[in-house]
Amino acid sequence: MTIKLKKQVIEILTVLKKKKTEQLASTLAKELNIDYIVLMAAINDLIDHDLGGFREKEIYQISLNDEGQNYLENGLPENQLLNLMKESDVKEISMEDLIVKSKLDKQIFYVGLSNMRKNGWIAQSKATGENKIFLVAEEFPETDVEKFMKSFKANLTRDYSKLSKNEQLQFDLLNRRKIFTKEKKTQRYIFLTKKGKSFKMSEIKELTHISKITSEMLSSGTWKDYDIKPFDVTKPGPSLKAGKTHPLVNLINQIREIFISMGFTEIRGPIVESAFFNFDALFQPQDHPARELQDTFYLNNPKFAKLPEKDRVLAVKATHENGGDSNSLGWRYQWDENIAKQTVLRTHTTATTMRRLAQFYRNNDKTPVKVFCIDRVFRNEKLDKSHLAEFTQIEGIVIDENVNLSDLIGLLSEFYKKMGFEKIITRPGFFPYTEPSMEVSVYYDKLGEWLEMGGSGIFRPEVTYPWGIKNPTRVLAWGQGLERIAMLYYDRKDIRDLYVNPIKWLRQQPY
Ligand code: PHE
Repeated sequence: MTIKLKKQVIEILTVLKKKKTEQLASTLAKELNIDYIVLMAAINDLIDHDLGGFREKEIYQISLNDEGQNYLENGLPENQLLNLMKESDVKEISMEDLIVKSKLDKQIFYVGLSNMRKNGWIAQSKATGENKIFLVAEEFPETDVEKFMKSFKANLTRDYSKLSKNEQLQFDLLNRRKIFTKEKKTQRYIFLTKKGKSFKMSEIKELTHISKITSEMLSSGTWKDYDIKPFDVTKPGPSLKAGKTHPLVNLINQIREIFISMGFTEIRGPIVESAFFNFDALFQPQDHPARELQDTFYLNNPKFAKLPEKDRVLAVKATHENGGDSNSLGWRYQWDENIAKQTVLRTHTTATTMRRLAQFYRNNDKTPVKVFCIDRVFRNEKLDKSHLAEFTQIEGIVIDENVNLSDLIGLLSEFYKKMGFEKIITRPGFFPYTEPSMEVSVYYDKLGEWLEMGGSGIFRPEVTYPWGIKNPTRVLAWGQGLERIAMLYYDRKDIRDLYVNPIKWLRQQPY
């Protein structure tokens, strides 16, 4: 019967057959210059074929610590002192002088001195009034302690159980001087079984080396007859080029989750919007510069939009002309319904917010109302690396009784915290439709900078009164662009990348 083994296992088996006796695994691994784990895996293959095995043995490994190694090199303190006295041929010396000469730590000096006495090398006397040391022995044969120490010159660690009785005694003596460490270790000894010893190498065949397993090999079980190339799990896998959600969509979904987790519901509105909802309802006067062609895209088709209920249009008209019932003086000009009917590409999602206020009136909704909008807006901008003509805004509003600026700041803090910004700062700002208005900046750790995020405020009475939202019911609102934050999140320097879609960048995005 032949046995099939991996090449390396055959090599190890050959070595073991030559060695005849059992082998310490760690030593053998070193000798064969292979990993311990590789060796033990090979032994497992031998075990599978009943050719070999291993046994475990617990040993106490002893080795000299730093202090011990120092003594191994320079001699034990007692020998150092003895050498000093022998070298300078002094048969007597005062204790003080010997301390100075020895350059030893005082404590260690006394240990050395007491061992010299125990060894019968010296005598001490204070007869002359001075503490004197006399060398009394004639010969100084190597002590057992010294011999034991020297045994560590060849190998720095020794197996405690292999020490002779006398060596154990010396170890116990020296161990009290805290110059040894003693560690429990499990050793593995590898051996060949009877079968392993008698099996002829000529009957052992090498397994074919393969790197792929086919389904046939799996179903027939023949995969066991091959030496399968191991996987290198540290190597990166092949990159997958499957379809995935666009990073911008991922970000939008994250922000959507944030609003929803804060109790908001999503609203959407038309991209082709009336100037009425985009500007007029927001109390932006009809000659406001933001309305001009260079800022806003007007449409020829459809040229005019339908306005909401006549009485609401009149209410908005009144706020512009004289403040209506909002306690304002208004802008004091002749408001033109035809200008309000013009169609524009929505310049901000606040137009959609206004539609929600109109719906609030129409449905006689109850407070609180918390809605958000993440949607496309358009501005007549020249494109460059930080400007787009078509981009996305994120906007949220709360309609509720007695809400105030602190509530707004609280909402902003919570919102931006969930967006990953711990610190925010608000500064006074201006929007035609909010009073007071605030600019919001967040602290961006990665850059160590404050970044302006967007605007916020409480809608003016001129904006809310036409829709029946009257003091103490107020509307807190905030909004910002999506793409700027996307540039931060995805570390893009050019805002256009988000729409040009460099394929390399998209491929780097996680699934
Ligand atoms: N509409 C503002 C913009 O386009 C943002 C904003 C929304 C400001 C709500 C105040 C309140 O920048």
